[in-house]
Amino acid sequence: MRTDRTGRGSGRGKVILLGEHVVVHGRPALAAALEGGAEATARPAETTALSVAPWGARVSADDDEPLGRALGALVRAMELPCAVAVEARVVVPGGAGLGSSAALGVAVLRAVDALFERTRSEDEAQELALAWERVFHGNPSGIDTAMALAGGVARYVREPKEGEKRLEPVAPRRPIRLVIGQSGEGASTKAMVDEVARQHARAPAKVEKLFDAVASIVETGRAAVERGDHRALGQLFDMNQAFLASLMVSTAELEEMCAAARSAGALGAKLTGGGGGGCMIALVEDDETSTAVAAALARIGRESRPFVIGAPEATA
Ligand code: PMV
Repeated sequence: MRTDRTGRGSGRGKVILLGEHVVVHGRPALAAALEGGAEATARPAETTALSVAPWGARVSADDDEPLGRALGALVRAMELPCAVAVEARVVVPGGAGLGSSAALGVAVLRAVDALFERTRSEDEAQELALAWERVFHGNPSGIDTAMALAGGVARYVREPKEGEKRLEPVAPRRPIRLVIGQSGEGASTKAMVDEVARQHARAPAKVEKLFDAVASIVETGRAAVERGDHRALGQLFDMNQAFLASLMVSTAELEEMCAAARSAGALGAKLTGGGGGGCMIALVEDDETSTAVAAALARIGRESRPFVIGAPEATA
């Protein structure tokens, strides 16, 4: 293969609107993709390597650390005809519950597929992206990689029942305005997923009931999104947050941020992603409230940015 050939690909980040953690345990979750999460360019090379800006990371597929192991797992699963060098750029912040690792993995996968002119079904792509994601998350539900591949707003379930789709697009009746606030605390999704699994092992019946309660919040939330009932959706954010706190994945900082957002007029607020730090999302009705919530977060030293789902400007 000519060494000046290149393939390009991209992957999206995501925000989980409702249902993180319970989605690991077979319940549904509702998520929205963040466009422009990560992009990658692949070219043939002597050895397989990946460099990631702006992290300043450079790994080979034989390196025994997470990024190198993820690259190794992905290229082994892809059965490539020759080694590849991939240069990637990640835009979504890492360790923030916004799906940066899945965005990167999907960007690498898509770039390498483009290089070798391979096309594949979403299911095949999802399986390969999961080989990458498992290195970081141990037991990922697959929602991050599914959203990184598909985009839009969707309901996701790990193991669909008869007649159910794994990823089902959801059409918001009107744009959903969020403020995404960063707690500034790095978060390990794997550690949080393990924490929830420990609680489940200690009191399975009680925790299963809690998972079911969140599942019904997700289904009610999906209907609220489709109806454009953001007042109801905001209440569901708050209810979901209470359950996440009882699963011990919230933090004092995240609670403080949710409270500040609500006091500034948000319809509801919750952590998003794995928790233990990372990001909070607040639902707001209009731009004025969005500005007020951002100001309230800034007063407690937290950075944030607005994000509109289901509108033409819905980009990260
Ligand atoms: O922290 P993130 O962006 O990887 O989101 C994780 C979402 C969880 O539900 C906590 C884990 C999963 O695999 O679904």
